[in-house]
Amino acid sequence: MQNLEQLIESADTLVSLEEVRIGIFGKKGVLAGEFAKMKSVPNEEKKEFAKNLNIQKANLTKLFEMKKSQLLEASLADSMKKDGVDVTMFNSYNESGALHPVNETMNKIIDYFVSMNFSIEEGPLVEDDFHNFEALNLPKYHPARDMQDTFYMNDEGVLRTHTSPVQIRTMMNPDVKPPIRLISPGPVFRRDFDVTHTPMFHQVEGLVVDEEGKISFAHLKFILEDFLHYMFGDVDIRFRPSFFPFTEPSAEVDISCVFCEGKGCRICSHTGWLEVLGSGMVDPNVFKAVGYENVSGYAFGLGVERFAMLIHKIPDLRSLFEADLRLLEQFR
Ligand code: PHE
Repeated sequence: MQNLEQLIESADTLVSLEEVRIGIFGKKGVLAGEFAKMKSVPNEEKKEFAKNLNIQKANLTKLFEMKKSQLLEASLADSMKKDGVDVTMFNSYNESGALHPVNETMNKIIDYFVSMNFSIEEGPLVEDDFHNFEALNLPKYHPARDMQDTFYMNDEGVLRTHTSPVQIRTMMNPDVKPPIRLISPGPVFRRDFDVTHTPMFHQVEGLVVDEEGKISFAHLKFILEDFLHYMFGDVDIRFRPSFFPFTEPSAEVDISCVFCEGKGCRICSHTGWLEVLGSGMVDPNVFKAVGYENVSGYAFGLGVERFAMLIHKIPDLRSLFEADLRLLEQFR
């Protein structure tokens, strides 16, 4: 076996080492031949014979691995010397980024309402109690506040729980007079965390106000149906009576389940319907709080992540914020 070691040692390229490997360790190699001799060795010597052979095999393997890494290193050093890298060279490989599905969905929503002549309004993320709750007909200690349990900065400051305070800010702005036709996109915050809720998410608010008698539930129904068909295509839509302190009457809007086409599945809790919006006619108490008289209007609010989730059929809403490229790359 002496000469096998020399054989390994003498290989001076990776190619010749590979030939040596096949000759020694291959299926028809020297070692296989030695092991085949086991058959003819007398029984009492078999154990000793096998032991020796295994020791030799282990030594040769070690020697081979050492030689291989030596040669690899040498060939790497060699090619580095030969073809140095020109870091100023033009690189045609160009990985492009893309919009996050939440932004993409947000843009699509904004596009629709801008095309319908709505303006875009924004408000602060740290709100005060008056704009976030009080003026929206949610007095302190009213149980309806429980639906939007949230993060308080101190007695007055609160991370806004919805985009509805922008309704109040706009109507109280002395430079703004009805007719008003606005949407307000942006982040909101709530104490929630499960497959359909994250503590920060995005809403788009809508508010339309004009002279008394000019805005009816029919206008609300038309715009939301048209909008939902634009977003989700050919789905069924239903308005379900509901309650919001700042609208009366109020309706939640459902679309037929995009996962099972309304047949009933786990995601729609076997109802065939998915809730996508809150809406209603602006409550008279809201108009009173902002000092408006003789007006009528409607409002609505929606969650952008929920829309993105339904459009792209993403099963866990939280994954939108895990910054996992494997998910995000699918939306390039
Ligand atoms: N602000 C409500 C929410 O966050 C949604 C809504 C807005 C409902 C406007 C009705 C009218 O749940």
